[in-house]
Amino acid sequence: MKIALIGKGKTGGKILELHPKEDIVLFDSENPVTVEKLSQCDVAIAFIPGPVFNNIIPILVDSKIPVVTGATGAELPGHLETTLVENKLTWIQGSNFSLGMRIVHQMIKKLQHTSTLFSDYQFKIHEIHHTKKIDGPSGTALSWEQWLAESAEITFERTGDVVGDHQITLNTPFEKISLRHEALDRKIFAQGALWAAKYLLSNLNTEYGLKYFEDITEQLLTDK
Ligand SMILES: NC(=O)c1ccc[n+]([C@@H]2O[C@H](COP(=O)([O-])OP(=O)(O)OC[C@H]3O[C@@H](n4cnc5c(N)ncnc54)[C@H](OP(=O)(O)O)[C@@H]3O)[C@@H](O)[C@H]2O)c1
Repeated sequence: MKIALIGKGKTGGKILELHPKEDIVLFDSENPVTVEKLSQCDVAIAFIPGPVFNNIIPILVDSKIPVVTGATGAELPGHLETTLVENKLTWIQGSNFSLGMRIVHQMIKKLQHTSTLFSDYQFKIHEIHHTKKIDGPSGTALSWEQWLAESAEITFERTGDVVGDHQITLNTPFEKISLRHEALDRKIFAQGALWAAKYLLSNLNTEYGLKYFEDITEQLLTDK
């Protein structure tokens, strides 16, 4: 699989550690994408700021290769879906490419049924991140509360260089259940993006348009 790697920063750089270097063509701000160079690759993986990604959409479309994007921080243009379908292209977008987090998603959804058995209970979510993360609670902690479909007490701390540590606890008067996800390395995002790239290449021509990593994995996990 020949990858056009767009962005080799903290996250994109991890693709270089997980995929053979000779099968990667690198693009960054010094070496911008061109249709000619992209079309020599099987798939593009982008970990660049959202506004930068939006600027290169026309070049990506013209290259005709499938795209996996993890770029965040800007809405994708509304016409993108139509453009992809018209050009018979399939792209995958993911806001969090951790494969483990998709399993956690399924488990937290099970917790939605707690009120079927308990009347007296409380959910707590605690997250820990490195000291450079200024926002809190994390977007992931807020997503967990959303997946739970009811409110939880959310707390957070900033310490050391913790990549991401999230724990949800269900407290009942006589029992306690905890589920914890620890991100040990930013490779989790690169691993998920590579998984999505392989998925794209083995499912080309099935359905065109913009697909979401979260929807694809959800379908695969619930079909089991
Ligand atoms: N979806 C997910 O799972 C996930 C996970 C982590 C991060 N992200 C997102 O991924 C993006 C990158 O995050 P990061 O932490 O890796 O940031 P980063 O370390 O700042 O890296 C950004 C990269 O973008 C490149 N870039 C900037 N302008 C470019 C251009 N015009 N053409 C090609 N490349 C360009 C930079 O190249 P230069 O060094 O040459 O400037 C750099 O390699 C962010 O939007 C972040 O939120 C998503």
